[in-house]
Amino acid sequence: MKSQVQKIKNEIDSSIANVIENTEFISGPQVKAFQQQLENYLKVKHIIPVANGTDALQIALMSLGLRQGDEVITSNFTFIATLEVIALLGLKPVIVDVDPQTFNISVEGIKKAITAKTKAIVPVHIFGQCSDMENIMNIARSSNLFVVEDSAQATGATYKFSDGRSSFAGTIGDLGTTSFFPSKNLGCFGDGGAILTNNDELAQMCRSVANHGMKVRYYHDHVGVNSRLDSIQAAILSVKLKYLDEYNEARQKAAAYYDKAFAGHDKIRIPARNPKSSHIFHQYTLVLSGVDREELKKYLQNKGIPSMIYYPVPLHLQNAYQYLGYKEGDFPVTEQLCKSVISLPMHTELNDEQLNYITSSFLDFIK
Ligand SMILES: Cc1ncc(COP(=O)(O)O)c(C=O)c1O
Repeated sequence: MKSQVQKIKNEIDSSIANVIENTEFISGPQVKAFQQQLENYLKVKHIIPVANGTDALQIALMSLGLRQGDEVITSNFTFIATLEVIALLGLKPVIVDVDPQTFNISVEGIKKAITAKTKAIVPVHIFGQCSDMENIMNIARSSNLFVVEDSAQATGATYKFSDGRSSFAGTIGDLGTTSFFPSKNLGCFGDGGAILTNNDELAQMCRSVANHGMKVRYYHDHVGVNSRLDSIQAAILSVKLKYLDEYNEARQKAAAYYDKAFAGHDKIRIPARNPKSSHIFHQYTLVLSGVDREELKKYLQNKGIPSMIYYPVPLHLQNAYQYLGYKEGDFPVTEQLCKSVISLPMHTELNDEQLNYITSSFLDFIK
């Protein structure tokens, strides 16, 4: 993070200085400028900047006019925010297992989970690779369901349809959401997020919900929230967006180095690529077999190599969600992944020397 920021510090400093100069800290011209730049980059009609990725999901779901008890299908292998907002809004989360190769929501699982009460599907493009959007959209269209893509980890990833068309993650469903948390592929210097849509009505509704449910000042048409991207964060994001392709390529280069080092090892499974999606490696996540993961983590830590477990507990086994009535054994793929995945350092500034140190240390332990 530090070395990435250092390289663009002058540009960032002058961008922040502009905000301070004109003192429009909330809804300043920088927010509108970033919104338009991101719309152009992602080739999407509307970007609605909000305060963080969790708010983006919540506001997106609030804009759909769903009723208490309506069912919303989502993936088991994700950050809690995806599930949390569904529960928070009084909707019923319906959890679906994932594909063992890509870790993205299982299309067959979605088909089985649909009931008369299902109103929406929230696929998550986990670790930077798109879910199987063509099939998900086909299912959604034939069952009259909304699709909200959780694209927090995939800003800049692209998905290719069988007719050759290509779209950015988050711009395929009725709505998409993303996060600008600092470690995300496009990250700011605090919290930030956005909703993406090509649908004019939903865009208007999301803008209104994010602004206390008003279109005209002090006239409140819906129950809303207060969720804004600060002008300073927008100014930073405008600078960083110019480098997003470069950043994603640097992550892909690091992933290719890791792949080469680990491919074919009988105790390590490298990340599978869905041929329909680019992979922008928000995380580089291995699946281990026959390895003591806790000991490996400790060993790496002692060598100064940070590693993370995304995610240690499947959503259906989290204490807060026991009321949903799921039990151990209901989602075997996610349960197994939670026991066996490990994510290695992944950012834009990894050089060959560091990658060599990480991979050789890792392999020394695994043998
Ligand atoms: C898949 C996913 N969804 C939602 C979020 C929530 O984003 P934020 O932390 O900006 O609220 C995150 C962020 O970690 C995420 O990874």
